[in-house]
Amino acid sequence: MSSVKVEYDSKNMRFRRLGPTGLRVPVFSLGGWLTLGGTVVGDPVKDIIKIAYEHGVNMFDTAEGYADGNSELEMGRVIKELGLRRTDLIISTKIYAGTRKNNPNGTGLSRKHIIEGTKASLERLGMDYVDVIFAHRPDSTVPMEEIVRAFNFVIDQGWAFYWATSEWSAREIEEAYHVADKLGLSGPVAEQCQHHMFHRERPEKEYAPLYEKYKIGTTVWSPLASGLLTGKYNNGIPEGSRLANHKDFFKNTLDNLLNDEDGKKKLSKVRALSELAEKELGCSITHLALAWLAANPNTSTIILGASKPEQVVDNLKALDVIPKLTPEILEKIDRILENKPEPVPAFSRPALDPYGRK
Ligand SMILES: NC(=O)c1ccc[n+]([C@@H]2O[C@H](COP(=O)([O-])OP(=O)(O)OC[C@H]3O[C@@H](n4cnc5c(N)ncnc54)[C@H](OP(=O)(O)O)[C@@H]3O)[C@@H](O)[C@H]2O)c1
Repeated sequence: MSSVKVEYDSKNMRFRRLGPTGLRVPVFSLGGWLTLGGTVVGDPVKDIIKIAYEHGVNMFDTAEGYADGNSELEMGRVIKELGLRRTDLIISTKIYAGTRKNNPNGTGLSRKHIIEGTKASLERLGMDYVDVIFAHRPDSTVPMEEIVRAFNFVIDQGWAFYWATSEWSAREIEEAYHVADKLGLSGPVAEQCQHHMFHRERPEKEYAPLYEKYKIGTTVWSPLASGLLTGKYNNGIPEGSRLANHKDFFKNTLDNLLNDEDGKKKLSKVRALSELAEKELGCSITHLALAWLAANPNTSTIILGASKPEQVVDNLKALDVIPKLTPEILEKIDRILENKPEPVPAFSRPALDPYGRK
């Protein structure tokens, strides 16, 4: 019998349904992009996952493409070494990017790659199944029926319980729903989208009809805009930070922050948000930015990223800030950000409630 070294305790974590499903996901989960298996390898990966788990985070997100498969390898290794019970965990991975880019069928969403990619991901994770499998990007070169049928096959094999999308347009998600419906198959249950205080249009406006019609939930990525919303870039680019470590990948972000008026404006908004957080809520901008996402009713889970265990502990303090976000505070945030998306035009038909839901 396998021993359980770390017994799961949800602590003060809050749980939400993943979109329309019965799966309960923690409002804060943890992901491995750039960090786990990338800049962080070996024992530090274990330290980060262990501390997250000990603070009630039981959902972990990775992808076949993260660090060319190393993120899945490291995550799987650590979960095994910690002796975590599989049924206590929610694991998600994502298919699209592949690990062998020169193979014409090694990436994308063909039936071949969805099935072969899923099997390879499970092998790297050392698991029989993941809970949620995401199409990491849309693939316009594959018929939607092939994509929907392939993800349903993956579910039928017991390799995943649900399938979902990541960075698909609302039109593409709608198409997937209609195709699935026509075939009597399962449609996607969630969308893994970028959502943070400086990126609102798609999650808050483009997807608005989808939340209402299909009850999809979001699994939010880059909630801190890669660290910008911690205030760590207010006075330059600190050594060892993400933007310093990945200068080429973040070239446009760096140019924007260091040279553009728009970047300077963002930094002044970060300062104003820090002041609001400290003076009115007694918290940091990091906590405010994370709690603000959690206050959105369409957010199922916010995927945290961390290069150090202390960041996980710090970020989870946002749980205490969620109840403090009154309509007045949310309005003050919107006034600072000046980027609240216009509602979907109703052409004189009034919305039915503040979220446009029935
Ligand atoms: N589906 C997709 O296309 C997609 C794309 C991107 C990400 N994701 C998922 O979303 C997850 C989170 O994304 P993300 O890593 O970009 O999230 P993020 O929260 O925007 O950025 C995380 C980074 O910010 C810094 N940071 C975090 N907490 C901090 C704190 N309290 N104080 C100071 N610095 C802090 C750390 O970087 P440094 O310490 O290195 O500066 C950390 O690695 C990923 O791991 C992945 O699972 C999905």
